[in-house]
Amino acid sequence: MPHAILSIDQGTTSTRAMLFDRAGKVLARAQTELPQHYPADGWVEHDALRIWQDTLAVVRDALAGAGLAATEIAAIGVTNQRETTVVWDRQTGQPIHPAIVWQDRRTAAWCAAHHTPEREQWLADKTGLLLDPYFSASKIAWLLDHVAGARQRAEAGELAFGTIDSWLIWQLTGGAVHATDATNACRTLLFNLHTQDWDPELLAFFGVPASLLPQVQDCAADYGSSLPELFGAAIPIRGVAGDQQAATVGQACFAPGMVKSTYGTGCFMVMNTGSEMVRSRNRLITTLAYRLDGQPTFALEGSIFIAGAAVQWLRDAVKLIGSAAESEKWAREVDDTHGVYLVPAFTGLGAPYWDPQARGAIIGLTRDSGIAVIVRAALESVCYQTRDLLEAMRADGTTLPAALRVDGGMAGNNWVMQFLADLLDTPVERPTITETTALGAAYLAGLGIGLYANLEEISQLWACQQHFSPAMAAERRVSLYDGWVEAVSRVRSK
Ligand code: G3P
Repeated sequence: MPHAILSIDQGTTSTRAMLFDRAGKVLARAQTELPQHYPADGWVEHDALRIWQDTLAVVRDALAGAGLAATEIAAIGVTNQRETTVVWDRQTGQPIHPAIVWQDRRTAAWCAAHHTPEREQWLADKTGLLLDPYFSASKIAWLLDHVAGARQRAEAGELAFGTIDSWLIWQLTGGAVHATDATNACRTLLFNLHTQDWDPELLAFFGVPASLLPQVQDCAADYGSSLPELFGAAIPIRGVAGDQQAATVGQACFAPGMVKSTYGTGCFMVMNTGSEMVRSRNRLITTLAYRLDGQPTFALEGSIFIAGAAVQWLRDAVKLIGSAAESEKWAREVDDTHGVYLVPAFTGLGAPYWDPQARGAIIGLTRDSGIAVIVRAALESVCYQTRDLLEAMRADGTTLPAALRVDGGMAGNNWVMQFLADLLDTPVERPTITETTALGAAYLAGLGIGLYANLEEISQLWACQQHFSPAMAAERRVSLYDGWVEAVSRVRSK
């Protein structure tokens, strides 16, 4: 059997293809940026056809880069930005509207109007989620209500809905397979965590016809094969997971209590809770880590909207730094921010606050607060927000992890990782391969094709590249975090 695995990682800002060998070594990669469209305040759209064309291009580039033919690829794994919503015509494969991206807030008023404490409870009981525009259901309803004729066509069975995984699988298989995996399904607000299937009461509440929906499968399963004409030979698609769940697999967080934190534009922290569906009392999300052989493994997740984006803001909006890499140098220039906090609530606050009206602030400035202090405060904010999530997990009664496994661009910043370990009073571990999202999808495809016998084999492949041990005095840790809590309270709208 060929031993290379192709991973397609379709993220919010880029589309990439990576080839891995069985040991998880990178054989080739290709990537292209994805344009963002902001047609109105709070709206974010992607061109779904462009996503598909980019996917084809990066896969072809990666195969060429590795000098491998499609016949030498054992399987494809797909991972994707979650919640982003596409509705397309089953006959033509054409989207009826641009994809509505997870960050899009156009359905905020609808969600607010339908919010009652009882309904929030009802939704959380079934789905583990909150009634928030972040998730797919209100986006689907918006499309059916705002695209001319869409609702009638949906009711006549002419349209298909999918998150980006389903959209790509549909295109890769030439429309033969309309499927999603359970980790993507559970981000829609239409999927019942208990029954592990679409829920008729939820469909009725959001007004979504069942005929729109893809079939829900395990993360390592048969998703058909790519059409032979696309890459020169058919390649089986055997692994699918939402990007944060794929990263959880790539980080080999397979035991209950293990936690990974991915630092990209935002930060997503996922704690494996095993077969136990932990219901958060602190506004974290109950979700799936993965589902294999029909067995769901659950997780608690905290989503922070701004992490790496705070550094982009320093670079692009206020131009305090020339490059993201420079931020580490500035942060090291001072040994304290002396009470200055930057709360990057640029698009509101995510977990555990869920406050869309909050806005960012820099608090505690004095005459000698210079660039170094502000840059350092921005980097520190990422660590404080991570601590907020860990505190919420602690308050939910979970046992805190022995170490936090980190990945994503900012995980490469040694200063941030040390401050993180200090502030959490928990060791932070960075693996040798930080492309954990793509790697996780490759592992799932490898499981699906039988290249790995079980998760234990995958666990053996995880290796720590750098370990950051906490070294901060308890008193300082407490007073720094108290200052952050106070700063956040000043930007909150409620
Ligand atoms: O829930 C949204 C998340 O899946 C997006 O991740 O890495 O594409 O920004 P990313």
